[in-house]
Amino acid sequence: MADNYRHWKLETDRDNLVWLSFDKADASANVLSAEVVSELDRIFDELLAKKPRGLIIRSAKDSGFIAGADVEEFTKIKDADDAIRMVRRGWDLYNKLAALPFPTLALVNGFCMGGGVELAIACRYRVAVDQPGTRFALPEVMLGILPAWGGVMRLPRLVGPTAALDMMLTGRSVDARRAKRMGLVDAAVPPRIQENAARMMLLESPRPRSLPLMQRLMNSSPMRPLIAWLARRQVALRASPDHYPAPYAILDLWQKYDGDPFAPRPEDPASVSGLVEGDTARNLIRIYFLQERMKSLGKDSDFKAKHVHVIGAGVMGGDIAAWCAMRGLTVTLQDQNAERLAPAMKRAAELFKRRLREKSRIRDASDRLIPDVAGDGARQADVIIEAIFENLQAKRDLFAKLEAAAKPDAILATNTSSLKLSDIGANFRNPSRLVGIHFFNPVPQMQLVEVVKGANTDPEFAKKAAAFVRQIDKLPLPVKDSPGFLVNRVLGPYLYQALRMVDEGVAPETLDAAATAFGMPMGPIELADTVGLDICLAVGKQLAEERAEPPKRLAELVAGGNLGRKTGRGFYVWKNGKARKRGSGGAASDLTEKLIAPYLKEAQAVVAEGIVADADLADAGLIFGTGFAPFRGGPLHYLQNKG
Ligand code: NAI
Repeated sequence: MADNYRHWKLETDRDNLVWLSFDKADASANVLSAEVVSELDRIFDELLAKKPRGLIIRSAKDSGFIAGADVEEFTKIKDADDAIRMVRRGWDLYNKLAALPFPTLALVNGFCMGGGVELAIACRYRVAVDQPGTRFALPEVMLGILPAWGGVMRLPRLVGPTAALDMMLTGRSVDARRAKRMGLVDAAVPPRIQENAARMMLLESPRPRSLPLMQRLMNSSPMRPLIAWLARRQVALRASPDHYPAPYAILDLWQKYDGDPFAPRPEDPASVSGLVEGDTARNLIRIYFLQERMKSLGKDSDFKAKHVHVIGAGVMGGDIAAWCAMRGLTVTLQDQNAERLAPAMKRAAELFKRRLREKSRIRDASDRLIPDVAGDGARQADVIIEAIFENLQAKRDLFAKLEAAAKPDAILATNTSSLKLSDIGANFRNPSRLVGIHFFNPVPQMQLVEVVKGANTDPEFAKKAAAFVRQIDKLPLPVKDSPGFLVNRVLGPYLYQALRMVDEGVAPETLDAAATAFGMPMGPIELADTVGLDICLAVGKQLAEERAEPPKRLAELVAGGNLGRKTGRGFYVWKNGKARKRGSGGAASDLTEKLIAPYLKEAQAVVAEGIVADADLADAGLIFGTGFAPFRGGPLHYLQNKG
């Protein structure tokens, strides 16, 4: 058989099984570009003529199976016709794959995303290699689009609508074992027997698994409206159709058109053209690239840490230590005494249980997290993170000891929110390795980490710090040593504006409703209560508002010991982690504008002052650090679009 393809390699074994290996040329990961898809189409034609006994599709790359469609090509889509052509390409190709007259199998090792899942489910069988990197996901919804290459049609038929809709509406990934349990794959096997397992499955060609009766019923036309209605209610809790039309389109496409993307008319909300013509998909794709850019900022150094020493086991230090241990590092955690360490160890155990699930992985992570009252770990650590009280003298005293104890090439980092690196490092013998690694609260949820370069920081150490942030799977954002860095600098005046509006008599509920209607994940008053009103007051004092009087009600609440969520009372009364709100009232648009104006103004200022390198990075930091309405593409992008 001719084997003149750039991205695919064909081999026929002695059983007349064809092994088709995907190895995208000049790329580290397999993506389904136009050229890749067109080659695959020709290969299927060749195989139709050749009639092998079976076909196994696998990846020749270590990085994973298939990362999905080529998102770069999405940015070149000019209009709805372009988008439809792109959908047609994959749709026809996978229908051809599904109709091949011999058994087909996807052997999935590593990530399998979007168009990769749709390819796998167009095969008759799927074998997943059971190792930590194997993950299946349909993340299209996060880009504001839908799985239009057969995902919406085939996935509910294969795994039932409940599990399928959950994957498609959230973009959540599942590992090999979960994929096996839910029927997404026919087998989850250890790496060493993967090829044999695939071969045997094709040679034996068992009857494909049929969906349990209940799931089949739920997938039937009479039941679909009810199932879709239930799912729509869930979606509505997280996203409004005006801001995020894609999940609603997925539901409609499944319910009314059985996943056929060519069935809806262009004006139907379920149509692909509607999605690509709106701003949301474009902005979410923009965010995808911003995220990739932040990831690449960690690539300027090949620094790899093995051991992290964290000092201060409070709200931040405790969670930073747990997070690092979960990501595979050895962590020593120091505090003044064992009693102070205990709550952090308890929270870590809960985090491991929640995120790692499997006993052996939970045990390994727990073993990696070592309580260390004496602080012995500082001598071996590659990264030392200080997260003690926000007190300059205490930090200086501590660093004096740390500098003497640490390995000469260890990164010395502070998690300070408000102190200047140059002040903390004033007495250092060598301040060039002092960086800020500024995490956000709650650490497990917040992806962004600001990497602060002080006037004396050696750029190499800043790069090493960014590489470390990537190593623990967070997004590094280089910022200059300036009050509030990026995120708090922008958030502070916005929160203060909202708090002053409360003083002027606007109800907290009205302000929160205005912000969420704009697309913020949480209103400013609820956010202030969540962060802690004492912290808000301190941050406000430190930022531009230094000389101004603090908002009156804020000062009263703090003076009365009502610090928000953590004390059960702040602007709201808190019960079981939820703020009790009394109706929201409608929010006028001029109120929204007044509320958001200081945020936008500060975002412009941080770029003008060079605190972040450019407007795109400011947008990225503010989306991942403050949750600024992702569908708007970032505050500066929003301003630019508004003209
Ligand atoms: P926290 O008060 O919850 O914890 C501080 C811990 O440090 C306490 O357990 C204390 O016993 C320990 N500690 C104090 N001095 C020590 C010493 N000399 N040696 C060993 N342990 C010592 O404080 P939190 O909120 O965790 O803040 C820590 C740092 O992180 C501060 O610099 C703060 O500005 C920064 N930060 C705080 C955020 C927040 O939301 N709480 C967010 C981002 C940064």
